[in-house]
Amino acid sequence: MIIAANLKTNLTRKQTQEYMDALESFLNAHDISQKVVVFPTASSLNPHAGKLTVGAQNAYATVNGAYTGEIGLEQLEEFGIKTILIGHSERRHILGESQEQIMKKFDFYKALGFTIVYCIGEPLEVRESGDEKMAEYLDAQYIGIDVHYANLIVAYEPVWAIGTGLTPTLEDISSLHLKLKEKCSAPLLYGGSVKVTNAKDVLALDGVDGILVGSAALNVHDMCTMIGYAQELENIKK
Ligand code: 13P
Repeated sequence: MIIAANLKTNLTRKQTQEYMDALESFLNAHDISQKVVVFPTASSLNPHAGKLTVGAQNAYATVNGAYTGEIGLEQLEEFGIKTILIGHSERRHILGESQEQIMKKFDFYKALGFTIVYCIGEPLEVRESGDEKMAEYLDAQYIGIDVHYANLIVAYEPVWAIGTGLTPTLEDISSLHLKLKEKCSAPLLYGGSVKVTNAKDVLALDGVDGILVGSAALNVHDMCTMIGYAQELENIKK
């Protein structure tokens, strides 16, 4: 399974290093075979050797150039970053990233062979407008995206569940994931208010290949607990 931590705009460089060190110790001490990915802030990137993968929360579709405030491939390569989060709802809705910009970013990092964690998810008003509207909305987030890209991971994160403590029911998550898998067979993560208290149930669902965790992942012990759950579930399956 894939357990990913999106640290968003949290932790300093020093705190991030301590976080990574604690995670690495856990992964080594407990013989964890799950894929663990951490997305720190751009200013906390560092070369990392170990079991966990470090990814970028964002980068512009450029090698370098005049894009004030952005980082590009050159800055990612300095730290050996080969994984990127694209299409997160905070970038779509707060920072106004359009599907067209997202497409460009996707194509650029796809051509470089990056692992892309591509986020989709609907706001509350869309969910409340019924299944058909919701399917249309989610379909539109796949416009221009190569769903057959070999290094693609999709994360379904309902916007209304992010940072709110609200989550769809387990049945809803599972049935939606199974539907989304018909469209794209890439590994599919669930994100949105995942925490220690619900992670095991979510991870055990049909159609769920992992989780993308925000707030709860900021506590490294909680992150380790959730990774431990994924390992337990996989050990049972074997
Ligand atoms: P929360 O876990 O804080 O709801 O955030 C989820 C998220 O946005 C991960 O990308």
